[in-house]
Amino acid sequence: MIRIVVAWVLVSIITINGFDGYYNYGISQCRFSSQDLSDLEYIHSYVFNKVELIRFNSTVGKFVGYTELGVQNAERWNNMTDQLEKYRARKDTKCRPNAAILYKDILTKTAKPMVKLRLGTPSIGDSPAMLMCSAYDFYPKMIKLAWYRDEQEVTGDVISSEELADGDWFYQIHSHLEFTPKAGEKISCEVHHTSLKEPQVVDWGSSMPEPERNKIAIGAAGLVLGLIIAAAGFIYYKKKSGGRILVPSS
Ligand SMILES: *[C@@H]1O[C@H](CO)[C@@H](O)[C@H](O)[C@H]1NC(C)=O
Ligand SMILES: *[C@@H]1O[C@H](CO)[C@@H](O)[C@H](O)[C@H]1NC(C)=O
Repeated sequence: MIRIVVAWVLVSIITINGFDGYYNYGISQCRFSSQDLSDLEYIHSYVFNKVELIRFNSTVGKFVGYTELGVQNAERWNNMTDQLEKYRARKDTKCRPNAAILYKDILTKTAKPMVKLRLGTPSIGDSPAMLMCSAYDFYPKMIKLAWYRDEQEVTGDVISSEELADGDWFYQIHSHLEFTPKAGEKISCEVHHTSLKEPQVVDWGSSMPEPERNKIAIGAAGLVLGLIIAAAGFIYYKKKSGGRILVPSS
């Protein structure tokens, strides 16, 4: 189960003597993993120079201090009923509506990955071949790419990138398999993603998309046609010139 954390940060940098900067911030978080938001939690932390001093936890319902100063302030703030009530209300006024919007507009949406398997150049050592399995334009981020050689999962010789954000909600990922080709062997890349009912399997060899295959077929036909015309032209030229070698006349 993924715990979703929506956070916003309030920052202030306190500078003393020009260069010695103290970094002070407060961070608000709405944490939840259930769709009915029954486990929704509002957390607000005060952090000074990377040390968390005080935390308000909606499940606890009050401030808790973690340093001497934090403990003192927490006790004081817990006595300030008006302020405490404001913090207690935030779970329902801030977190609940935003979490509902997130579920409606984003968290229930998925985009299927576009999977490509292609030959690459090996980066290191004496592996003569490298296959690259790429998944593009998927959402959400969590994905798994697995390699199979003759139905056996391969875990060594695999280098994977992180899930890379495209900056438009979509992600891409690349996995490389370095291998020594064996005759008749079947290599496949298997993609597991929440948008797919079944894992998507792409086999090496049959992975060439239709347009690519057509391009190659048209190219091959063009080459044959070109050779025929060239041969015809050569025969015609031979006949015309009667087999003599032409030398330019001065
Ligand atoms: C908030 O308090 C509850 C109850 O003590 C605890 O289970 C939970 O982990 C706390 N959350 C955070 C983020 O500290
Ligand atoms: C907070 O309130 C309690 C009870 O009303 C009191 O005993 C305590 O001294 C107060 N603490 C501070 C720091 O004001």
